[in-house]
Amino acid sequence: MYITIRQETKNDYLGVYELNNLAFGQENEARLVDALRKNIDVFIPELSLVAIIDDQIVGHLLFSKIKIENNNKNEFDSLALAPMAVRPEFQKKGIGGQLIKQGLDIATKLNFKSVIVLGHEHYYPKFGFVATEKWNIKSPFEVPTNVFMGLELVEDGLKNVSGTVKYPKEFETV
Ligand SMILES: CC(C)(COP(=O)(O)OP(=O)(O)OC[C@H]1O[C@@H](n2cnc3c(N)ncnc32)[C@H](O)[C@@H]1OP(=O)(O)O)[C@@H](O)C(=O)NCCC(=O)NCCS
Repeated sequence: MYITIRQETKNDYLGVYELNNLAFGQENEARLVDALRKNIDVFIPELSLVAIIDDQIVGHLLFSKIKIENNNKNEFDSLALAPMAVRPEFQKKGIGGQLIKQGLDIATKLNFKSVIVLGHEHYYPKFGFVATEKWNIKSPFEVPTNVFMGLELVEDGLKNVSGTVKYPKEFETV
């Protein structure tokens, strides 16, 4: 199984929509990706990645810019990892993991300092994510503390960062 991971192009948009629709069993995440692409304040083309096998899009992962705002209204830049989707028949083969690893590499090269994810508490720690309570970083939604995780892409990438994550408004519709 030969797999390529690369930046998505315009020609992939429809396939990415269909992939998200299929993987999530609803259109919300597919629409979210479409909406985020149009928000130039948060969309990073290099961090909208597709996984390709035999010319078919089998996976997609997007990272978007977010802010973390503390009590003094100071804002810190970070990235949100979301959404991620792999075609059902290709799941549990490590494709999601490859997308994450490549994405984290690219994000580091682009000089981002950290990534935040709301996700499965047994999955993301494999890539170094730990619960954000370590840095006193909070989710804007009511979620169990162990599913809200952060990763420092560089040493001390979240040092002196605390507060509540502000997601782009597009996430409100999911
Ligand atoms: C989540 C998803 C992208 C993982 O892709 P993948 O290619 O199967 O991931 P990998 O092969 O790297 O890893 C699979 C592992 O992740 C676990 N996992 C990851 N995210 C999970 C989730 N949201 N729920 C349950 N298990 C999850 C699997 O149970 C499996 O664990 P194991 O290795 O211990 O068996 C894929 O399952 C998917 O598209 N799911 C539907 C959409 C979704 O829920 N996306 C995540 C929220 S944004």
